[in-house]
Amino acid sequence: MAMDHKNGSLEKVGVVKGEVNPLDISIAVRACDADAVPSVLERLSSFGKTPPVERDDIRLAMLADARTLVRALETPRETMIKHNWAQPACHAAITTCYNAGVLDLLRDGPMKVDQLASKLGMHREVLAMGYIKETDVDEYAPTNFSKALTIPIIGDGYPCLAGGAHTASTKLHEYLRQTQYATPSDFAAGPYQYAFDTEMNLFQYMHAHPPLGKQFDHHMGGYRQGRPSWMDPNFYPVKEQIFAGMDTSEDSVLLVDIGGGLGHDLGEFSAKYPDAPGRLVLQDLQVVIDGIKQLDPKIERMNHDFLTEQPLKGARAYYMHSVLHDWPDDMCANILKPLAGAMKRGYSKLLINENVIPDKDADWQATALDVLMMALFASKERTLTQWRQLLETPELGLRIVRVWSAEHSQESLIECELV
Ligand SMILES: C[S@@+](CC[C@H](N)C(=O)[O-])C[C@H]1O[C@@H](n2cnc3c(N)ncnc32)[C@H](O)[C@@H]1O
Repeated sequence: MAMDHKNGSLEKVGVVKGEVNPLDISIAVRACDADAVPSVLERLSSFGKTPPVERDDIRLAMLADARTLVRALETPRETMIKHNWAQPACHAAITTCYNAGVLDLLRDGPMKVDQLASKLGMHREVLAMGYIKETDVDEYAPTNFSKALTIPIIGDGYPCLAGGAHTASTKLHEYLRQTQYATPSDFAAGPYQYAFDTEMNLFQYMHAHPPLGKQFDHHMGGYRQGRPSWMDPNFYPVKEQIFAGMDTSEDSVLLVDIGGGLGHDLGEFSAKYPDAPGRLVLQDLQVVIDGIKQLDPKIERMNHDFLTEQPLKGARAYYMHSVLHDWPDDMCANILKPLAGAMKRGYSKLLINENVIPDKDADWQATALDVLMMALFASKERTLTQWRQLLETPELGLRIVRVWSAEHSQESLIECELV
């Protein structure tokens, strides 16, 4: 599986660094975009001295400007150091503190480093970098950030990505160089398998290396928090689109969440629509279903591999959240074929909750995920054109009815039906 990274032919690819248009080093030590600073400051000050940051649209607009300001003020050298030293170091330090229990101990107030170290039975070095507060010499206090990390669906992202994902990002450049920068598309032998020297995919690898799998399932419960949800009235008219016209017979299924993880989405749906007609069914791999600790009793659990025949025929809606972006196009077709086969023409809907990358001004979270999807799954985040190419093929017989979105929603809801 592993490729020879000393292969001399690699040098044939790309340009030889440093030999193209050498620039004066002064560009690296001046602010990246000094010209942008006055207008960003003006925008930021237009929010007033006491901006209502509890309004999420205002908070997000200010944050976008603040990020632009930081990028503009930083020198290229500082940004380079941030990417190469601070961000990996920060991730490593936070993951270590998280795993060792430092953040739990620190949750309720300041503690001396020696106190922490003796309680944990470890050496006294603790990295702060602004994420915990330095209150005195060798004394640190929690911040809202470090407190929030003690919630597993927030904190578990660190160890699971450190243990079962980031190696693939770190080695992506090496893999791409060896494959002459061809777009990765082989799910079974892509950058992930190369980096981890395995034949497993990420899900298999994480579940084979506990507790990574459980932590990943928690992380899936965390990334969605605080985002506008398609179940809210200003996003997708649930009652009009799926309750109306629902088959009222006793065992009819309203919503099947395929690859639904621990059931966070169906739990939210059930809480928001307690009187929803029909069954709610959560499907995932057995290992995930077995790991569910708490679930609304109205939600049925079902072990189902979505690469096999869909056992529930003619449901009102089949739903997938952040599933198809984990798979390259050929594998998505393998997932969608049995699903389309189970749908009832004129009745069943397929609801896909995913990023639809705009042609311009894509959000940084979505573009970061795009690179991650390449590294982890030989896959990608998709534009509307790419979603159409994937879904609207004669083989599947699906058509996109409408793409639903809300302001700041990040992810859209792609509503499909059989042609
Ligand atoms: C990125 S997670 C998304 C989970 C959930 N839908 C959410 O958004 O929180 C992808 C899910 O697909 C599940 N999965 C992976 N391969 C699967 C398969 N062959 N059959 C069923 N589920 C699978 C994983 O266990 C995981 O729960």
